[in-house]
Amino acid sequence: MALIDASPRLVGLGVGPGDPELVTLKALRTLEQADVVLVPATEASTRAGMGRAEIIVRTVCPAAGDAIRPIPFSMADRSGVSTRRKESWLASAEAAVEAFGGGARLVAFATVGDPNVYSTFSYLAAHVLEQLPDVKVETVPGITAMQALASASGTPLVEGTETLALVPVTAGLETLGRILDTVDTVVAYKGGRRIGDVVEVLHEHQREGVLGIQLGMEDEQLLRTEELAQGQQAPYFSTVLAPARREGTGGRL
Ligand SMILES: C[S@@+](CC[C@H](N)C(=O)[O-])C[C@H]1O[C@@H](n2cnc3c(N)ncnc32)[C@H](O)[C@@H]1O
Repeated sequence: MALIDASPRLVGLGVGPGDPELVTLKALRTLEQADVVLVPATEASTRAGMGRAEIIVRTVCPAAGDAIRPIPFSMADRSGVSTRRKESWLASAEAAVEAFGGGARLVAFATVGDPNVYSTFSYLAAHVLEQLPDVKVETVPGITAMQALASASGTPLVEGTETLALVPVTAGLETLGRILDTVDTVVAYKGGRRIGDVVEVLHEHQREGVLGIQLGMEDEQLLRTEELAQGQQAPYFSTVLAPARREGTGGRL
């Protein structure tokens, strides 16, 4: 007789970058089964009504409505372990611990894109495990913003022997420059406020690319980096893709 694993489960659930049609069947099934669905509520999203992950969850799975618990999330400090960021992680972990304490068997944390790509889910999970070591932690992969931008702009990410790097602009413009020197295709996340600087670094390295803003949302925008002015800013949900220099079809096979 097969043993049924009855451990409580904490699932980091990728819901894609914006377009609800990019939510996987597995994510949808998990949402339908979850007792509690945690969604990040940032200061900005709270003013606007709802966060991005919550909008996607409510669109694809209206039945999850009663299970949704928005949790406060600080976007004020986007790099480093600030007190506010730590408080955010602890608040989300507390919400999960409370849910398990209230009898939940499956708690999902819905996160934009993929839960293993620059998501706070890993911090949340670590804090929950400190208090509840028997909880089983899992993730359901989601489509990343990087993939959505490649698709929306018709730009293959990598071909043949080309290499690919994903760089958070918060790691510094020098880091971005170093990577542009050594890697074929480079994708930059978390650069909205510094988009003018990012474009300047691209130009210094004789690179061009495409900027994707609010991918998968009604106000999605795609702009060539050559069209951007110095000092230009973009919203938080902005990604830059600088593809490999390619000569002819299958040149790097
Ligand atoms: C904290 S990271 C989250 C990444 C996400 N987990 C993923 O897998 O793509 C946030 C960054 O992802 C990118 N991003 C996420 N969603 C996006 C969207 N809809 N449009 C443009 N960029 C997006 C932006 O660069 C943003 O600064």
